[in-house]
Amino acid sequence: MIVTIDGVAASGKSSVSSGVAQALGVPYVSSGLLYRAVTLLGLEAGADLADPAALLPLLSGVRLEPLASGNRVWNDDHDLTADLHSTRVDGGVSTVAALPEIREWVDAQLRALPAPLVAEGRDMGTNVFPHAPHKFYLTASPRVRAERRARERPEDIPAIEAALTERDRQDTTQSAPAPDARIIDTGPLTLQGVIDTILNDLR
Ligand code: CDP
Repeated sequence: MIVTIDGVAASGKSSVSSGVAQALGVPYVSSGLLYRAVTLLGLEAGADLADPAALLPLLSGVRLEPLASGNRVWNDDHDLTADLHSTRVDGGVSTVAALPEIREWVDAQLRALPAPLVAEGRDMGTNVFPHAPHKFYLTASPRVRAERRARERPEDIPAIEAALTERDRQDTTQSAPAPDARIIDTGPLTLQGVIDTILNDLR
């Protein structure tokens, strides 16, 4: 069984997916972390983030570890996870995610993982696991999302909201909900409320 949970930036996908996966007793997989890892390694190498030929050679040691408590990304024996959510990575990741060669690399990593799992990102239900039987798509207003993300970033809410809106714009191509996804506005719901909505739907 595969459950896909897609949605716009900071819509709560990771926390919701982790909660749903723990309730089901299966791993969850955050595809965004792989795009973030490519971005971090590109930035550290001083590579052009729009050049797949400069990025792909950096990825041979990259591996996603889908722990139920929180995914980790490794580059050989170096744990990259703590460095993946900086403002710098936020600012470059959509450039990297627009590259078809990088999307193919991420998709191959994800499809190699054994089911059952909960997969979270932008195009899990449309592109990576189109035959998944259970699909969800999370939304919320830009202000609500910026308020949530302000707990994890040093900038103020208007700056975060502007950056999220810009990232949504850059991510439009890969962010359409699957036609068979259930769309959930998370704005009025608590985290547990979103998790329960999904678990009720799965029963
Ligand atoms: O948590 P947040 O939604 O802010 O970000 P994320 O899920 O970690 O994704 C970071 C970036 O990776 C997105 O802004 C997209 O550019 C890209 N991404 C994508 O293109 N496709 C996915 N399936 C997942 C992420």
